[in-house]
Amino acid sequence: MSTHHTPRAARPGEQAAVLCGVGAALPATVVTNADLTARLDTTDQWIRSRTGIAQRRIAGSDLTTEDLAVRAATNALVRSPSLPVQAVVLATTTPDRCCPATAPAVAARLGLGSIPAFDLAAGCTGFLYALATAAGLIATAMAQSVLVIGVDRLASLPDPTDRTTVPLFGDGAGAALLRRGTAAEAGAVGPVVLGSDGSHADLIRAAHPGALHMEGADVFRHAVDRMSTASRQAAMAAGWALDDVDHLVPHQANARITSFTARRLGIPEGRQLHNVEDIGNTGAASIPVLLAQAVTDGRVAPGHRLLLTAFGAGLTWGATTLTWPNLPAQPVDTKGMPS
Ligand code: UT7
Repeated sequence: MSTHHTPRAARPGEQAAVLCGVGAALPATVVTNADLTARLDTTDQWIRSRTGIAQRRIAGSDLTTEDLAVRAATNALVRSPSLPVQAVVLATTTPDRCCPATAPAVAARLGLGSIPAFDLAAGCTGFLYALATAAGLIATAMAQSVLVIGVDRLASLPDPTDRTTVPLFGDGAGAALLRRGTAAEAGAVGPVVLGSDGSHADLIRAAHPGALHMEGADVFRHAVDRMSTASRQAAMAAGWALDDVDHLVPHQANARITSFTARRLGIPEGRQLHNVEDIGNTGAASIPVLLAQAVTDGRVAPGHRLLLTAFGAGLTWGATTLTWPNLPAQPVDTKGMPS
């Protein structure tokens, strides 16, 4: 029996979570495909043709998940309206430690006071799970404004000698500030479609850093199926036709996955945002980093209709809609070292 629930769109005057700031942080260290060919049996041509990736940014041991999260949040908050942040929801699959969670430490370093702060793990779909959670906190009046952070150091997961997985991943963090507003406002988060299927948990798994196992071809197939279906459901729930979408904003797993997904949705290549060529798959950071870069380089303008979708370990997937608000450009923090 299917228990899948498709959320309904809020009516224009109804309360909604509204995006009012984005930011991102990436490590300073760039690792190119040429760097990888020096230590793995691979070629630039193989990596580019199978994944679209040319380089990724890698955090050293002096740049933790917590550091990246603080930097991304600072980058977002510096240009956001000065609202009192009332909760922090942080998505990661690669925390610095099992216990305690990362979010309270991030809230403390940001000087946010004794607000609720917690982590959630939903693989590369983490940012969309966190966005939905933040919208729920706002809807239930638990908080008026919520800081959402997606952060991962996925480059720490593969066995360093595994040529199939090492090239795919990079490190980074993205953050978004959500406030209470109405569904009619630009920036209002649309209905969020989320799903999971733990019967395929074995397809992407890592007992500890350095022990990633991935069934690449199966993951590929599931990713395209789930992201295209969830995208259709989210667009339909929002009352959008796919032709209305200005930009598909897919989790940057790899360029072939996102191309296949867009093709299935009938969305042309030119209407997809991408940065996988420069930073690889950054997990829960992928979508907010892409948004932060796109607003700054002008690819996304106020009023554009965005369809966000992601897929990851779990398996998990999700999608939602967002009409882009008027946000100030904010160059991504690439200094890389903690302050
Ligand atoms: O959020 C989800 C994250 N996961 C992903 O995005 C991964 C999804 N999967 C994929 O994108 C693809 O499955 C990969 C890019 C990981 C692999 O591509 P593939 O076309 O599925 O390759 P494959 O694993 O079937 O391997 C094909 C060949 C093999 O050689 P033989 O057995 O045909 O001789 C591999 O050994 O390619 C070989 N190979 C490589 N050769 C050069 C695998 N990795 C490499 C490499 N360089 N880096």
